[in-house]
Amino acid sequence: MGDKNRRQFIKKLGLATASVAAAGSAFSTENRAITYLKRANPLTPSKTVNIALIGAGGMGVEDTKTCLQHEGTRLVAACDLYKGRLTAAKERWGNDIFTTSDYKEILSRKDVDAVIIGTPDHWHKQISVDALLAGKHAYCEKPMVHSVKEGHEVINAWKKSGKVFMVGSQGLSSLGNEKAQQLLAEGAIGDINYAEGFWARHSPTGAWQYPIPEDASPETVDWKRYLSNTTQRPFDPLRFFRWRNYRDYGTGMSGDLFVHLFSSLHFITRSMGPTKISAMGGLRYWKDGREVPDVLLGMFDYPETEAHPGFNLSLRCNFVDGTSGTTYLRIVGSKGSMDVKWEEVVLKRNSGSDEDDFAKAKAKEAGEMVSSRKKMVPPNEISYKAEDGYLGAHYDHFANWLNAIRTGGSVVEDPVFGFRAAAPALLCNDSYFQNTFINWDPVEMKVR
Ligand SMILES: NC(=O)c1ccc[n+]([C@@H]2O[C@H](COP(=O)([O-])OP(=O)(O)OC[C@H]3O[C@@H](n4cnc5c(N)ncnc54)[C@H](O)[C@@H]3O)[C@@H](O)[C@H]2O)c1
Repeated sequence: MGDKNRRQFIKKLGLATASVAAAGSAFSTENRAITYLKRANPLTPSKTVNIALIGAGGMGVEDTKTCLQHEGTRLVAACDLYKGRLTAAKERWGNDIFTTSDYKEILSRKDVDAVIIGTPDHWHKQISVDALLAGKHAYCEKPMVHSVKEGHEVINAWKKSGKVFMVGSQGLSSLGNEKAQQLLAEGAIGDINYAEGFWARHSPTGAWQYPIPEDASPETVDWKRYLSNTTQRPFDPLRFFRWRNYRDYGTGMSGDLFVHLFSSLHFITRSMGPTKISAMGGLRYWKDGREVPDVLLGMFDYPETEAHPGFNLSLRCNFVDGTSGTTYLRIVGSKGSMDVKWEEVVLKRNSGSDEDDFAKAKAKEAGEMVSSRKKMVPPNEISYKAEDGYLGAHYDHFANWLNAIRTGGSVVEDPVFGFRAAAPALLCNDSYFQNTFINWDPVEMKVR
């Protein structure tokens, strides 16, 4: 895409020249190596939103705690299949909350406006559809669905319901992702041609070997209900508490982790997704009976669209990585790159690239004289960092959800967006297990 086209493209995105200039003349006139990002619009609650939690385990509890940090929210009920989690919910949020192991009892309550769905992946679709059709707003953890066959059912139920449905890849609501989206649209790294991301871990918990409670038994776990939408098997606490390791319930490394990177990347690039998907990997170390790899690489082809030029994406996830504990997303363009985190973006520009026509045009827009006189040059590397006290992506994600509920508005990570992020992640598993490339139509959201 040439510079002229890029400008038309920026206009098409609705970024009027004035707002681009007002956005701080993002890089061309930026002389500081660090710029602090602010959240400018605190939301004022007008109505209490009554919440119920379905799936009160690790993330469901974190979601609920974060949601309740917002004024005007109240937890009225919790549902889980393990008794210990319901006891813990009452200890945490008070004896008055209603608890049950049957999520339908939650959905039939008139005092519940909205549900948070924090169950394992194989329950996301059915609980989401039932919640929407029962007239509840919903926040469903990622990946939105367990298989690509389920995506359209959630989208249809959402359209029918008129309710707000948001998926829980919280990173895209962060200051860092918003800044990256703005910088890319302004041409800060030129034309995108490549992106890469990875997750590196090396610990039992990081590799999903969670502790099994001592009292785990058919008396404390509603095993029958857990399996009621999948293959029947005798009680197995590993399949319940370490569900990520098994394909009936989890979605492997890609469904668990790649999906976050797809969500952020699609938000930043305004992409609908790749058309070609391939994955390779293996079970190298955590041979504990799991059915999914512990090292996974994915490669993806994003064709040119109205929103972006064609580019390639490479993702990897390694649970036996000696460097451990790192995650990153890098977006590479013809004039530089961005390392994108939720609270920080590091923009690197090629040496001398401020002399490009686009940068000159930006300087002119910002009211700077363009002359042959030598000038002060900005740094090649600029860090944009969230201000101290930033409450984070998860807090912002819930702010967006609650705001949409209160105002009848919409969210970015709705079921269409959520499915477009989940599908390439889920199709990595299909590619890996079927040993083949998968062709995907991201517009129609269908395997081709
Ligand atoms: N957004 C994030 O950063 C993030 C982080 C971790 C997990 N997650 C997602 O959150 C979800 C839960 O993961 P987790 O780590 O909290 O798992 P977890 O095992 O700690 O919790 C899942 C809970 O769901 C309960 N459950 C299972 N089936 C149920 C059903 N039919 N009805 C009601 N409760 C049911 C289980 O008893 C368990 O307490 C997953 O989809 C995961 O991908 C998201």
